[in-house]
Amino acid sequence: MMNNQVRLNCGIAMPLIGLGTYSPQNDRKTTELAMHTAVKMGYRHFDTAKIYGSELALGNALNQAIQDRTVDREDIFVTSKLWSSDHHDPVSALKQTLRNMGMEYVDMYLVHWPVKLKPGSNSAVPKEEEFVKVLDLENTWAGMERCVDMGLCRCIGVSNFSSKKIESILDFASLPPAVNQVEMHPMWRQLKLRQNCGNYKIHVSAYSPIGGPGNSWGSTDVIENPIIQSIAQKNKATPAQVALNWGLSKGSSVIVKSFNQERMKENIGSCYLKLDEEEMREIDKLEEKKIMRGEFLVNETTSPYKTLQDLWDGDI
Ligand SMILES: NC(=O)c1ccc[n+]([C@@H]2O[C@H](COP(=O)([O-])OP(=O)(O)OC[C@H]3O[C@@H](n4cnc5c(N)ncnc54)[C@H](OP(=O)(O)O)[C@@H]3O)[C@@H](O)[C@H]2O)c1
Repeated sequence: MMNNQVRLNCGIAMPLIGLGTYSPQNDRKTTELAMHTAVKMGYRHFDTAKIYGSELALGNALNQAIQDRTVDREDIFVTSKLWSSDHHDPVSALKQTLRNMGMEYVDMYLVHWPVKLKPGSNSAVPKEEEFVKVLDLENTWAGMERCVDMGLCRCIGVSNFSSKKIESILDFASLPPAVNQVEMHPMWRQLKLRQNCGNYKIHVSAYSPIGGPGNSWGSTDVIENPIIQSIAQKNKATPAQVALNWGLSKGSSVIVKSFNQERMKENIGSCYLKLDEEEMREIDKLEEKKIMRGEFLVNETTSPYKTLQDLWDGDI
């Protein structure tokens, strides 16, 4: 069995399998029930964000589990994220997150995207007039560091950041980012970004680790891929387990969403798999298909990013 935690550059340990909480239906009761089931099943790492609208449900479920002594607060790892309209004031944004969750601190707070929107813009797909052209990352990061100083979170990091943007943070950071959470799976392997982050001791966490089947903004057919399916069959595993184990084998944590009890069990069981070198090589040869998550943040006239290459600084 694989070591189930990673020690981050900020000194704390993070469980390698995280449960995603974004669901388009965003039904509080369903999310709460799924989170409650997950804690009982052994999940200890939970990923939310202001923009997902799942902070309240997750907080309710975790607080209930703490109250009924299913788990201690110290044994769970909670990540939330600074939405793009809150870059001007991370401290107030995180305080609101903590109120939503009924918690005193989160373990990890991430800058969700390297994009700034006007205060109050709370749509996941911003309108043209909501973009702010200049992102002062130094100011944002100073606010993130204040969150740590104030004990509102234990660690800070980024999400959807290219190597170049990470390097620009390192130029002025007192605390380096501990994590870069990006889309990563067998068909978007993020080799270059993983190498660069590795050099800076920044942990790469994989979201959409099975390709995000069914996502309205697009998904990659990782679990339908014949190579992934044949490796699964050989190992008496499922394609999702193969995809997750591939991410874990690369040293990444995986943030996978399921609210279905059977699939939640299946996913957490992925750590018991052992892919051999030949199987890893076969996966590393798969054609990459990069669904461009950031597409909604690219706009010729209003966004600082005219193309996806601008947003990713050539990392894709
Ligand atoms: N930082 C960012 O910008 C960012 C962006 C996207 C996502 N995220 C985070 O990452 C999490 C996961 O990403 P994601 O939801 O895009 O992708 P994902 O975890 O790769 O895929 C989730 C989808 O796969 C289904 N599924 C889960 N386990 C399965 C299995 N074993 N077999 C077949 N289908 C399965 C789920 O449905 P059921 O629930 O019905 O099982 C759901 O529709 C999100 O919830 C969020 O927390 C972060």
